[in-house]
Amino acid sequence: MIKKMFSAGTLAIMLGVSAQAAGPKVTVNLNPAEKPEVISKEIYGQFAEHLGTCIYGGLWVGKDSPIANTDGYRNDVLEALRELKVPVLRWPGGCFADEYHWLDGIGPKENRPRMVNNNWGGTVEDNSFGTHEFFNLCELLGAEPYLSGNVGSGSVEELAKWVEYITAEDGPMAQLRKENGREKPWHLKYLGVGNESWGCGGNFTPEYYANVYRRYQTYCRNFNGNKLFKIASGASDYDYNWTEVMMKNAKRFMNGLSLHYYTVVGWSGSKTSATQFSDEDYYWTLGKCLEIGDVVRRHCDIMDRYDKEKKVALLVDEWGTWWDEEPGTIKGHLYQQNTMRDAMVAALSLNTFHKFTDRVKMTNIAQIANVLQSMVLTKGDKMVLTPTYYVFKMYVLHQDANLIPLTLNTPVRKVRQGREVPTISATASEKNGVVTISLTNIDLTEPCEIEIPLDRLGLTGKPAVTGEILTSAKIGDYNDFGDPDKVGVKVFDKAKIEKNVLRLTMPAKSIVSLAIK
Ligand code: AHR
Repeated sequence: MIKKMFSAGTLAIMLGVSAQAAGPKVTVNLNPAEKPEVISKEIYGQFAEHLGTCIYGGLWVGKDSPIANTDGYRNDVLEALRELKVPVLRWPGGCFADEYHWLDGIGPKENRPRMVNNNWGGTVEDNSFGTHEFFNLCELLGAEPYLSGNVGSGSVEELAKWVEYITAEDGPMAQLRKENGREKPWHLKYLGVGNESWGCGGNFTPEYYANVYRRYQTYCRNFNGNKLFKIASGASDYDYNWTEVMMKNAKRFMNGLSLHYYTVVGWSGSKTSATQFSDEDYYWTLGKCLEIGDVVRRHCDIMDRYDKEKKVALLVDEWGTWWDEEPGTIKGHLYQQNTMRDAMVAALSLNTFHKFTDRVKMTNIAQIANVLQSMVLTKGDKMVLTPTYYVFKMYVLHQDANLIPLTLNTPVRKVRQGREVPTISATASEKNGVVTISLTNIDLTEPCEIEIPLDRLGLTGKPAVTGEILTSAKIGDYNDFGDPDKVGVKVFDKAKIEKNVLRLTMPAKSIVSLAIK
């Protein structure tokens, strides 16, 4: 491993740093803007698909379950998610969305037809969680619903009527909704027109999909003052041509274009274990994760050429780690464990999204429960919070806060496949007079001394700092049903402010969030 200095911004100072016991010294310079960009709270969005036990067992157990619930939603999961202030929830897929027929998921449960979930293990879906159950969940969580509409195997009429059913006050669809127990329309802002239309959503070419998108969205109407934010299915990873064609052919019909990027070893063969990995694998993972910054940049550059005013948002509506399923779990259910490595991926990804607040207005980590890089894992009546959950909790103060741009000097590590990973990453924001600074030290063995001059913040009075830290003895540590509290957030009281400079030593493999006021 070679270490060299890396400048994250033009103001960075190149310091001679060597691998000493005390670790490197890094200065973080905060540069508040006169007109700050707001970190859209929807960057902290979630995604729930009919996949494995995400919905059934994870969020929903039904009213008659012995597991403590409110109208069928698990109480423990509801309580945990409320702490995250989930701003938006995407549903029902994913690949499931393009095989989902919403009319099968309304009305008396016993009359709802069953279907085979072809994408995810051939599980039989009984449609007991449908439109009403989803919208009511969003109300319970205070989250904005994000509906993913069926384009691949559904009709224009079907999608148009779904919007009418949900949002109209009068008319045949509103009447049907009322007969099913919901008098008032729901609010629906985010409407996705298809998912992964280049793949499981229909295997379209971008040219063909652009036309299909234009047609479908035409008939999705704004009823009774409800205003849809229409989202076209976007590219996967490095497919820049998809973004180019969509922007060229359909820009004026969309409010947002999506992008999917997973931290995954590869799409064929083993995706490797979530819990058994070498140090080298760990550092590689962070390199792959951080590449999302280059990918987003390149998609944004294309969008900039067609949309200088940034009217169309980029929504990274699926991201996160994708490992092999846990041994002994059902193939196709994507149930994976979640270690401190995943927490690092979450923190670095969120830090990266903050850098694109002018274009990236929403992201949705995949997925909220029991699938891929989830917030919670459940087994029967038990629930554990994952290390990733704790990162989202530590970052809550960044939601809808004013971004404070920063520069820092940090060593970087070269990792497999020629990628480079900065040892220290940071992000900062301000809201209601509270400045929040979140930092990661990815090094597995070395602590790092950090200093942050506060003079540019214009704080009045004597500023005080409080902090939280997420770390663990081993990077592969995780929470499981037999050991639910192995990884958790602790108070961090080692940050001190002297003469308007904030100083702290970040332990190896740690994530720290500080609030200053
Ligand atoms: O999140 C799991 C799957 O990943 C989604 O269903 C699909 O959109 C993507 O390929």
